[in-house]
Amino acid sequence: MVKVLTIASGKGGTGKTTVTINLGTMLAQYGKKTFIMDADIGMANVGLLIGLDNVPVTLHEVLAGKASIQEAIYDGPGGLKVIPSGISLQGFQEANPERLKDVLKDIVDRCDFLLIDAPAGISRDGVIPLAVADGVILVVNPELSSIVDALKTKILTEVVGGNVIGVIVNRTSPENTEYVVQKMEKVLGANVIGSIPDDPGVKKAAAAKTPIVLKYPLSDFSRSVKRIAAKLAGVQAAETAEVSSEKFVDRFARALFRGKR
Ligand SMILES: Nc1ncnc2c1ncn2[C@@H]1O[C@H](COP(=O)(O)OP(=O)(O)OP(=O)(O)O)[C@@H](O)[C@H]1O
Ligand SMILES: [Mg+2]
Repeated sequence: MVKVLTIASGKGGTGKTTVTINLGTMLAQYGKKTFIMDADIGMANVGLLIGLDNVPVTLHEVLAGKASIQEAIYDGPGGLKVIPSGISLQGFQEANPERLKDVLKDIVDRCDFLLIDAPAGISRDGVIPLAVADGVILVVNPELSSIVDALKTKILTEVVGGNVIGVIVNRTSPENTEYVVQKMEKVLGANVIGSIPDDPGVKKAAAAKTPIVLKYPLSDFSRSVKRIAAKLAGVQAAETAEVSSEKFVDRFARALFRGKR
């Protein structure tokens, strides 16, 4: 089973961290034991976005050999487990990304999914997460520079013995989604496992340090992420619908019987 997934892109700013946090939260909501790890050890953002930016032990200390991975696991939103990275320059310098593979051995048995938020670019700390995962998911924007860099990352992943299992197209608009998805599959030679619309709620949720899927669960953004999570978790799409329709039926019944139920 594919359980260690690296979320990568090539080009910076395509939405890797946003996807990692929200997809991770949704997988956890589907009852999957899910960890997310901020492997962007130079420009860590995960902690900042979910209110775990002031923790004593991070992936920096673990990769520096100063702490065990168990000490760097924190409770995140919606049942998610989070391994944040530090933000200090010294911590970055002391962290050795080569240790990542050994670190993973200590957590894979404890989870159903581990999502690794990778850095942009093709630095050493960016390449290692491509090689150590069971599968790589590329987050691509519907623009040429993003597609070209994603293609480079796909080739690099294969060179280092990794495997791209799919593409998420992020920041689509209703007019271009279908065309863009077809183009991506053709150019990247990889399956598009979902598309996520551009959504102003992303910035508001970041300011509130809450995943969008929890803050705006009924938004198109959240529905898209839910579909992708259901696919990865092997949950029937119908089940997604059932969850919400059950809640609706409950609410409806309560309103009808006014507390007699
Ligand atoms: N679907 C979306 N709709 C609107 N804004 C988005 C969406 N996805 C990401 N963004 C915004 O784009 C910016 C970059 O997102 P994010 O930090 O997730 O990208 P990244 O790939 O992790 O970046 P980096 O390469 O710097 O690590 C952020 O300001 C985020 O709020
Ligand atoms: Mg990021």
